[in-house]
Amino acid sequence: MSPDVPPPKLPPGLTSPGLTGVPETMLWTLHNRAAEALRPNGDFHDPEAVRIYQSLAYDYERHFGRADGSHAMRAAAIDAILRRWLERHPDGTIVSLGEGLETQRARVDNGRLTWLTVDLPEGIALRERFLPPGPRVRHLAADARDPTWMDAVAGGPTHIVAQGLFMYLPEADVRQLVATLARRFPGGHLVFDTVPVWLSRLTLRGLNRTPHYRMPPMPFGIDADRVASTLRGWVPDLATVETLEYRMPRGLPRLMDTLFRLTPALRHKLPGLVRVEFKRP
Ligand SMILES: C[S@@+](CC[C@H](N)C(=O)[O-])C[C@H]1O[C@@H](n2cnc3c(N)ncnc32)[C@H](O)[C@@H]1O
Repeated sequence: MSPDVPPPKLPPGLTSPGLTGVPETMLWTLHNRAAEALRPNGDFHDPEAVRIYQSLAYDYERHFGRADGSHAMRAAAIDAILRRWLERHPDGTIVSLGEGLETQRARVDNGRLTWLTVDLPEGIALRERFLPPGPRVRHLAADARDPTWMDAVAGGPTHIVAQGLFMYLPEADVRQLVATLARRFPGGHLVFDTVPVWLSRLTLRGLNRTPHYRMPPMPFGIDADRVASTLRGWVPDLATVETLEYRMPRGLPRLMDTLFRLTPALRHKLPGLVRVEFKRP
């Protein structure tokens, strides 16, 4: 900005996120998680998400509409997977690719794990305004597709999380990344989420969430019944590939979700989770 133009005035104490493109989508998922955590008597507890949510000068509803619980349900399902893994590997390393403003570590921390966040430089810069790194918590400003971040993982049991990331990458990049993870982390685990092909196609044509916000293209869409064969085509010797559901919590989205699941032609065409275990040598 030119020195003659004063920066726009922000309400005192608030931070401007200053994000565009795919990095801005971290505010959409934060909106949905924090709003869920703010529900009286809700099951999703995340005071850190609420703190960050309320510290940003950003009109969430104008961009993304009324919050729904989708991303909180997704995050809670991944939390459960990580907690189970940590019972077996309490000193393990969790790597979260494209972590944005996720506060998953605080939700699952056992006091012993090591956590590595990898995100693009603008994502890490904003994250560090609220979530500083520490002795067991590291941040790396890097493209998840560039394997150099893998050198920063000490070894030992490793669980990789890619929540809200793979759909924004071309399929060839996801394939290459999964194959590299399988090679670099034998015995390691991976969890990621998917969007169905119809949703990917809509975003490629141009999909507005609200009149003020167009979703970035999601080039990688996959239906749940194609996941196992596709991943095993990419990496033939995967030890485990499992598709898991997460459900909308309530209201009309829950009803739609139920109708999809009850209709044989549609039940594989919902967003979902994939859990992968890489083979040991
Ligand atoms: C939808 S947000 C998800 C954020 C977080 N995982 C969550 O669930 O709230 C997508 C995130 O991916 C990050 N991202 C996009 N492309 C990336 C890439 N090539 N490498 C690393 N991070 C990337 C964005 O900066 C953003 O934080």
